[in-house]
Amino acid sequence: MHLNSSTSKNVAIVGATGAVGEQLLRVLERRNFPVSYLRLLASPRSAGASLAFRDTMVPVEVLEAESFDGIDIAFFSAGGDISKKFAPLAVKAGAVVVDNSSAFRMDPKVPLIVPEINPGDIKNHRGIIAVPNCSTLIALMALAPLHERFGLKRVIASTYQAVSGTGARAIKELQSQVESLSRGEAVKKEIYPHQIAFNLLPHVDTFLENGYTKEEMKFQNESRKILHLPELQTSMTCVRVPVYRAHSIAVHAEFEKPVSVAEAQDALIAASGVDLVDDPMRALYPMPIEVQGLDECHVGRLRLDTALPNALAFWVCGDQLLKGAALNAVQIAELLLKPVTCNL
Ligand code: A2P
Repeated sequence: MHLNSSTSKNVAIVGATGAVGEQLLRVLERRNFPVSYLRLLASPRSAGASLAFRDTMVPVEVLEAESFDGIDIAFFSAGGDISKKFAPLAVKAGAVVVDNSSAFRMDPKVPLIVPEINPGDIKNHRGIIAVPNCSTLIALMALAPLHERFGLKRVIASTYQAVSGTGARAIKELQSQVESLSRGEAVKKEIYPHQIAFNLLPHVDTFLENGYTKEEMKFQNESRKILHLPELQTSMTCVRVPVYRAHSIAVHAEFEKPVSVAEAQDALIAASGVDLVDDPMRALYPMPIEVQGLDECHVGRLRLDTALPNALAFWVCGDQLLKGAALNAVQIAELLLKPVTCNL
């Protein structure tokens, strides 16, 4: 589809039919991103499909090496293997890639960007810019303003991650398991190794030799890179929960300087992209069903940690398809449009 505007860009979405791809379309629409031409790319399974963008139905094309001719910005959300193979081809064709996969996040030549936290890191990109892991990103939305105030030293955290983080097929799996169980029938398991309906799986991504999962180590590695804290100590347990959308994280964070709840509240209230929802006596605290569809991450249950010195405990929820993926990706593309960082 074509629009006429001198600043408009030719945009491609790889993985347009997926859970994040669908959100990318909606975020580009509602933020009025200047799109002059949109190319939607997916696997041969989606050949013949078309998706709505603004008032047009855009056909979905099969991803090929030549798919990036004439494209300025390519959003990738089709998994690490697809990014590894096709992102370099997109760059070669002249596009800037905003990658939602984990393929390039820890590459020293690839900026890993949260626009509210480290927008300046984008300036030396060489064609690929990475979006951080979704639970890392949501935890950092609360941790970064507290780090700025008190100096972050150590984080111990547990995640409660929605099935939509695994993709569109995992949403269907939870739905069909809930329906089967309500009819008294056996559940079908295709995506997860165990029943996810009415269960918890302490297993997100693959296990590593140190006993942690890749997802758990992403938090340490990516937080160090984004916050420029190479010595940051973290220990995370990631849990998949039978929630359709929005991740939650219970965080215990130790700081260099003495902390107070009032000062921490001030820092969070002043931070963009974060809303303080913290009145437990009135049963007001962040919940995944409250943040789904919202751009902001909600932080609450803020209290002094009783086990660590200079430490805070809190609970943060965020829509991982939005701030944890599509919204952050579009915000990165918006940074690219600004004259100072424009490298298109
Ligand atoms: P398709 O719908 O054609 O399978 P999710 O993370 O929600 O599972 O979505 C994954 C996205 O990545 C989908 O858009 C999917 O397209 C796309 N995808 C998966 N494998 C490929 C592939 N080999 N080539 C191009 N796109 C792919």
